[in-house]
Amino acid sequence: MMRDGLMKNRLMVALDVNNRDAALNMRDSLGDSVGWLKVGLRLFVAEGPALVSDLNQSHRIFLDLKFHDIPNTVAQAVESAGGLGVNMINVHAGGGADMLNAAAKSAALFPDMKLIAVTVLTSDAMPKDQARVVALERARMAQDAGLSGVVCSVFEAASIKAACGTDFMTVTPGIRWGGQGVQDQKRVADPATAIAGGSDYLVVGRPILQAESPRQAALEALALMASA
Ligand code: C5P
Repeated sequence: MMRDGLMKNRLMVALDVNNRDAALNMRDSLGDSVGWLKVGLRLFVAEGPALVSDLNQSHRIFLDLKFHDIPNTVAQAVESAGGLGVNMINVHAGGGADMLNAAAKSAALFPDMKLIAVTVLTSDAMPKDQARVVALERARMAQDAGLSGVVCSVFEAASIKAACGTDFMTVTPGIRWGGQGVQDQKRVADPATAIAGGSDYLVVGRPILQAESPRQAALEALALMASA
């Protein structure tokens, strides 16, 4: 799954809502303005695989469950995720090389599903310089294990690209623009800075979910991305 030129296929909306109706309503308001929906812990725990496969009819799905357990358990969970037909799944790089290797082996059974690793959470209070070093080290470990990319903040994307090559994917949450509150995020950047900084995919939650018009907010993000 190489990224394509269309900005909407580089924008992932985090469907951090708590039930099926809210998820389907949000999907309908966004329509085809965005290419990806991200299903995280809250929604998956509440609604499970049935909702994922419904959402998958209209959008690519990033199943953001951030697995972190012993290698065998993670490998099995990745295999189950592959069976859902999702296009992206992630694990915590902090789980170590053996866990990453095991996860990558399972992911290889599903050519349409990319496996990426979380480096340092964008909510982590780690100073930016330290986060860059740790994120880079974890990105290298993920690449060595055969993963397709990482979740990192915009501030780490460029050095990860420089070290791991342009094909190694960077997925960046912590996106804010136009004076929005940062809430629990620490290392935030706007959509244009994210694209210019080497981000392949932007993950946006609350700035779109809580907007009066989510579709309008998504279009705004896309326009900023295109301006980079
Ligand atoms: O609402 P907001 O735009 O902050 O949402 C960011 C989304 O990205 C959330 O779903 C969060 O779980 C996810 N995420 C993150 N930082 C990471 C990995 C995932 O914020 N490192």
